[in-house]
Amino acid sequence: MDRTELYRKVLLSIAGNKLVEKLSLKYGKKLAGKFIAGDTLAEALAEIEKLNGKGIMVTLDHLGEGIKALSEASGYKEEYIRLIDGIAERGVNSNVSLKPTQMGLALDPEACYNNIRAVVSQAAKHNNFVRIDMEDSPFTQATIDIVLRLHAEGLTNVGTVIQAYLFRTEDDVKKLIETKVNLRLVKGAYKEPGSVAYQQMSEVIENYKKIIRMHLDQGVYTAIASHDDRVINWVKEYASQNGISKDAFEFQMLYGLRMNDQELLAKEGYRIRCYMPYGTMWYPYYTRRLAEKPANLWMVVKNMFK
Ligand code: FDA
Repeated sequence: MDRTELYRKVLLSIAGNKLVEKLSLKYGKKLAGKFIAGDTLAEALAEIEKLNGKGIMVTLDHLGEGIKALSEASGYKEEYIRLIDGIAERGVNSNVSLKPTQMGLALDPEACYNNIRAVVSQAAKHNNFVRIDMEDSPFTQATIDIVLRLHAEGLTNVGTVIQAYLFRTEDDVKKLIETKVNLRLVKGAYKEPGSVAYQQMSEVIENYKKIIRMHLDQGVYTAIASHDDRVINWVKEYASQNGISKDAFEFQMLYGLRMNDQELLAKEGYRIRCYMPYGTMWYPYYTRRLAEKPANLWMVVKNMFK
């Protein structure tokens, strides 16, 4: 295991500790602000407008995951419907991203399906798109099933995320390409065991490039979500060498990370979308960001003294 992988594993373990969580929730709000657009929809919409002005599209995420009761899922469903309407009223360029466990997947898969269906139907009315984020591996199959079921019902304005670190990924991509599902391709952010996922970053990147190539070669619109120049530069080069248009894919990055580079990509004529979370349930999202890169933790420590 290399140093980066060790850091990631240690940080994800510490973040799961209840005392650490309690202290972070008490003292960490200001520090998390770097990665979160605000507490309210109004704050998020104003921030989307600013990014759109710089040529950056957005996918808006109302923070929340791992709910304990189905009534919470209903609340999130209503909130997503409200924010889809808010995006349309304000006329900003943004779709939405949601988490399946936020919609009840761990409690009642059928109720989760119905909640997501309601959100996707509302988005369809406004010609908008819903991205179902991918969570940890116990939910992979159920998430893919939801997306395929919605497509079979004619709701094609929904896609999901595929994680390059999972062994199963290549097979999933082959299946999803048949249905032309719009996918966001990522390395993967959760702590997964060696029985289901590659543990070496070099293997993850190799698999990542393989699934990106499968999409670009098939002409299926795809989102490449990474801050890694090894990946971004490779995609630019592969697309230009193979005559693949800049409209055939988009890059995605997270709010608060490489914002100047996001603007630069837009200026170079690439499609670039920023994943913008807002809301008060920021702790799990925030700790995954810290686990991704020691520099993110360092950035937070520096902010503590500003
Ligand atoms: P990684 O963190 O591996 O860094 C690799 C290299 O990139 C660094 O060594 C550095 O050179 C460069 N780099 C990274 N950050 C930088 C910075 N801020 N400034 C300068 N250089 C930097 N995961 C998941 O499991 N399910 C999901 O649904 C999603 N959704 C999602 C949406 C979007 C828009 C993004 C960008 C990511 C996700 N992810 C995700 C997270 C994803 O799986 C992954 O954990 C992170 O993107 C981290 O991997 P990267 O490829 O970005 O770079």
